[in-house]
Amino acid sequence: MVRRLAKAIREASGNGAEAKLKRAQLRHRLLTQLPDRLSGGKLSRAYRAMEVEVREWTVAAPGWPTAFDGLRIGQVTDLHAGELITPEHAAGIVARLRGRGVDMVVCTGDVTDLDPDHAVEPLNMLGSLEAPMGSYLVLGNHDALQSAEAVASAARRAGVKVLRNQSISLRRRNATLRVGGVEWAETVSSCAKTVDLAAAEPHGRPDLLLAHNPKAFRRAVQLGVPLTLSGHTHGGQLALRRQEPTFPRRAAWRRLHAGPYVDGGSHLYVSSGAGSWFPMRVNRPPEVVVLTVRKG
Ligand SMILES: [Fe+2]
Repeated sequence: MVRRLAKAIREASGNGAEAKLKRAQLRHRLLTQLPDRLSGGKLSRAYRAMEVEVREWTVAAPGWPTAFDGLRIGQVTDLHAGELITPEHAAGIVARLRGRGVDMVVCTGDVTDLDPDHAVEPLNMLGSLEAPMGSYLVLGNHDALQSAEAVASAARRAGVKVLRNQSISLRRRNATLRVGGVEWAETVSSCAKTVDLAAAEPHGRPDLLLAHNPKAFRRAVQLGVPLTLSGHTHGGQLALRRQEPTFPRRAAWRRLHAGPYVDGGSHLYVSSGAGSWFPMRVNRPPEVVVLTVRKG
């Protein structure tokens, strides 16, 4: 047992894609399967029984295009479909956005925990939601562990547009909304490079930026992007108390952890997401988000 563990740890060291996958598989065995098995399956059952909150939030961003004042965006993130959150359960979470009167739906990454096949069911659900301005996905670090391309093509088959360091211009009644999305990047500086790619011509600076890692917000602020949506943090999963912010916190000097932030005219919402790999959440309930974006 000790020898097998030592071998797995050796294989998981390094920076290549193979080592990253091995590390994720090791983490899955130690931090997902082991605690759950020690609890006799209680942890995962309790996790799946948690009520998913539909969190409504209104953002007032001065740079938001007037023609899209009042736009409603449904956001899901960090479903981590797999062993803990089954693909079917993840699809049920996405379905919580149904009937909410959203204009567009977005997923800010980590649809799957490890296996791209597990992303298919929740992505099919995402693509089936009624959203006149479409459904969009940016990939998270977990989506890229085995094959980012496999997750991206499952999304495309479901009718979900994947934004990979690029922007698109959406037209509605002679007005344009630019939506940008970036690939997974780890540091503030590597995130900045992806944001610059998404903000390049011909579309230019996006009005709405989707980025799995909230660190992308640092560059979004410099470029004057009115609204960024992120995930990745799971809100820390374990918190001493429940936090229900009534106004956005100033992003400067803060760790971008969970909820709404503002810096100058740029807003960020970091969703705590709905799934995870560690089978426990305390004071950070799973959530899907409905944002109403106002110009103001
Ligand atoms: Fe995640």
